Formats: sequence, structure tokens, C-alpha cells
Amino acid sequence: MKGKILVTGGTGYIGSHTVVELQQSEYEVVIVDNLSNSRADVVDYIGQITGVRPAFEQVDCLDRPALEEVFCRHQGIEAIIHFAASKAVGESVQKPLLYYRNNIVSLINLLELMPKYGVKGIVFSSSCTVYGQPDVLPVTEEAPIKKAESPYGNTKQINEEIIHDTVKSGVPMNAILLRYFNPIGAHPSGLIGELPNGVPMNLIPYLTQTAIGIREQLSVFGDDYNTPDGSCIRDYINVVDLAKAHVYAIARMLEGKQDEQVEVFNIGTGRGVSVLELIHTFESATGVKLNYRIVGRRAGDIEQVWADPAKANKVLGWHAETGLDDTLRSAWNWQLKLRERGIQ
Ligand code: UFG
Repeated sequence: MKGKILVTGGTGYIGSHTVVELQQSEYEVVIVDNLSNSRADVVDYIGQITGVRPAFEQVDCLDRPALEEVFCRHQGIEAIIHFAASKAVGESVQKPLLYYRNNIVSLINLLELMPKYGVKGIVFSSSCTVYGQPDVLPVTEEAPIKKAESPYGNTKQINEEIIHDTVKSGVPMNAILLRYFNPIGAHPSGLIGELPNGVPMNLIPYLTQTAIGIREQLSVFGDDYNTPDGSCIRDYINVVDLAKAHVYAIARMLEGKQDEQVEVFNIGTGRGVSVLELIHTFESATGVKLNYRIVGRRAGDIEQVWADPAKANKVLGWHAETGLDDTLRSAWNWQLKLRERGIQ
């Protein structure tokens, strides 16, 4: 066994895939999750995929005494991967204080407990949202941070700053901030993936729900952007590839290989794909025809963004490996499995 890793939000979409990759790389995992946006049976599915059922603590990271209990019960936690957060951009505009409390206080609680329990470092889930609409594409980690478009985006920026300030103050810990682009797809086993929570806001769950008949039609938000086909461009990263980036980050941290105490990496493919291109790739990869129509722009959307992942490629040794066809097939397979399980 390698080190013991605490994964907050470990039953969530990216968290669950990361727990699988950590366990398959011989790390011992303790999951902390309040199940506010995930299900307890994810722990069983992780066990089915890996042959190891991770330790699971149903705890809210806002509950400082309960969180501290976790560190007491599971002595020897070496590092934390912190996923647990509220993540709906639109909801954050309606309920800013909920987002600021959930996303910021959780991190503060963890950072306060880390030195007390000898935890060496934290990998933080950040987002390309911190770049806003970049002036130069592909976007590198050096690009300026733009004023956040939403309270959700602001919590990512503030949390990055809190980590920088904490390390700068001399607290003995390291940190790696991973700025994710657009994670999509599901585990090839079809046992874990993104669980729907009401009407999806993100493109892929809406697309697969339309393809399977839960939704009538997919709306494409705008075809009058300054892009080759007029629709928005994003960097869609396979969720298993993204999960693997965390294993590389943890290894680098625990092996003491960081050049700086806080390191930042873009985690994307380096390829920009338009909404229309994505729809057509889905149709050709799955053979399923999609009912869609072009509608007006969605407020707050960035026109185009994709990563320069060179730093992660070179320094972390991580590369996005899965092609878009396979990733979209995995998303479709997951939607079919959800139907089998009676989850819509
Ligand atoms: N889109 C549609 N129709 C839909 C849903 C989305 O056309 O029904 C389009 C959007 O306009 C956008 C693209 O599909 O061009 C991707 O939209 P998503 O909502 O899936 O993703 P976003 O890029 O808007 O947002 C995501 C995450 C955020 C994160 C952000 C960082 O959801 O958490 O990336 O850029 F902050």
C-alpha cells in the first residue's frame, strides 16, 4: 500500500472516478461525503470495480468536530484531495451565501486540521472558470485571472487564494491546484458516472437524456459566436483521464518532487470542440440521432476556451489519452445503465 488519502466529495462525479484510480494505484482511500449530491451505493460500485471497498464517512466538511473525528479515526492521512463543493453556476447566483459558506468554510476547516494531524498536502479542484474569456488561446496557467462571472466561480478563485496565503504564512503543507476544463463521460464499466440531479444544466447529461427520450430536445445556446461554426468551444476532458491527473499530483506531492509549495496545472486535452461538433461526434460514435435546435445565447457563457496542457504533460507526466468518440460512447453507455437501474 502507498499512502492514505482523504477524498472529500469522493462519492461525487469526479471524486468517485478518482477514488477508483487511487485504489488501482495502491493508495488507501478514506471518503468523506455528506451525500448532498450523490448516493451511498457509489461506495459499493467503487468496491465492485476495484475489489476494495473504500472507507466511507458520511460527514459534512462544514461540521468541524465531525470532520476532526475522521482524522482521529483514520490516523496517518498523508494528503487530501478536496472535491466536496457546490457546483451549479446558476444556483450560485440565486444563493450566493450558501455557495460561499459551503465552498469556503469546508476548505478552511480542512486547512486548519491538516497541520494538527500531520497531513502533508492538498490537491484542490479548481476550474478553468478562473480564466473567464482568455485573451490568448490555448490558455496557459500564466494567463490572468479574470473577475468571476458567478459566486461559484468566485469561490474557486478565493479558495486558490486561501491556499496560497496559508502556505505563504508558513504552515508546513504543499498544495496542487488542478484547473479542470469540461469533464465528461463515465467509467468504462458503466458502474459510476455523473448522477442526474433534476434538469441538467451541463451539455452532456442534457444531450444523453435527450438521446434516450427523457428530454424532448437539446437546445444549442447560440450559433452566432465568433467561432468557425458559430457555436461555443470548450475543452472536453474524459473523466477517467481527469481522475488519473489526481494520482499523478498525489505521487508528485508525496514523493517531495514539487518545485514550488503551491503548483497549478491545467487539466484539459488541448483541443477545442464546438457544441455542434460535439453533437455530430456523438451521433457518429453512437449511431443515435439527436433532436436539437439552435436557440439564443445563454447568459454568462464564455465564447471559447481550451487548455494548453503542456505543463501537466511535462511536469506531472500526465496526458489526456481517451478520444472524444470513446468518451461520448462512455457517456451514452452510462445513460443506458441508469435506465437499467431505473434512475432517470
Ligand atoms: N450548452 C448547450 N446546451 C445545453 C447546455 C450547454 O448548448 O443544454 C453549451 C453551453 O452554451 C456551452 C457548452 O454547451 O457552450 C458547455 O456548457 P456546460 O454547461 O456543459 O459547461 P460550461 O462550460 O458552461 O461550464 C462548465 C462547468 C462549470 C465550470 C465551467 C468552466 O459546468 O462548473 O465549465 O468553464 F465553471
